[in-house]
Amino acid sequence: MDVGTIGAGTVAQAIASHLVAAGHRVMLSNSRGPASLNEVVAGLGPLASAGTVAQAAAADMVFLAVRWSDVPTALAGVPAWKGRILVDATNHIVGQTPADLADLGDETSSEIVARHAPGARVVKAFSTLYGQYIAADPQHAEGRPAGSPTSCGRSAIWQPPTSPAPPTSSP
Ligand SMILES: NC(=O)c1ccc[n+]([C@@H]2O[C@H](COP(=O)([O-])OP(=O)(O)OC[C@H]3O[C@@H](n4cnc5c(N)ncnc54)[C@H](OP(=O)(O)O)[C@@H]3O)[C@@H](O)[C@H]2O)c1
Repeated sequence: MDVGTIGAGTVAQAIASHLVAAGHRVMLSNSRGPASLNEVVAGLGPLASAGTVAQAAAADMVFLAVRWSDVPTALAGVPAWKGRILVDATNHIVGQTPADLADLGDETSSEIVARHAPGARVVKAFSTLYGQYIAADPQHAEGRPAGSPTSCGRSAIWQPPTSPAPPTSSP
């Protein structure tokens, strides 16, 4: 699949790293232009490229990963969405701390994003995870459910080794 990112910082790079590892082509973009992303793209490997925001936003699936104050500018001038998917990873933080949130009135942040991307199918995702957690490999040996086959590929909530063993028979 062709994927684009609007924004090429912490979150976009974390998501892009998983996408290229899964075999998808990813075009990253920022406000400074593709040449400013040479190093980032080289680090992500041959499936990654850099483009203008309009080029990246033409992909089948597009991730929005810019700061809240940059959302209107970032979404202006992109090709008509025509039902393409826009994954909104933003938080409406406007100050120095995560508690400094914009007053959105009666709207949700994704309703505002959707207003700036008419025709897009907007999905809210990733915004509750720190970038370092998005970037990390989600498969942990410690995170596998006790007793599950190692080949099942599931991740689960980590359990401390001292947890009592579950009962083996019904009472
Ligand atoms: N960091 C986290 O742990 C985390 C986790 C979840 C969600 N979030 C949310 O995700 C969003 C991105 O966070 P981040 O930490 O990835 O921010 P970041 O590292 O500052 O990256 C923001 C990116 O947006 C680009 N940008 C700025 N204006 C733009 C425009 N008009 N058009 C296109 N690109 C533009 C910036 O590049 P240029 O300045 O060169 O254009 C930069 O590449 C924020 O809304 C944040 O609240 C962050």
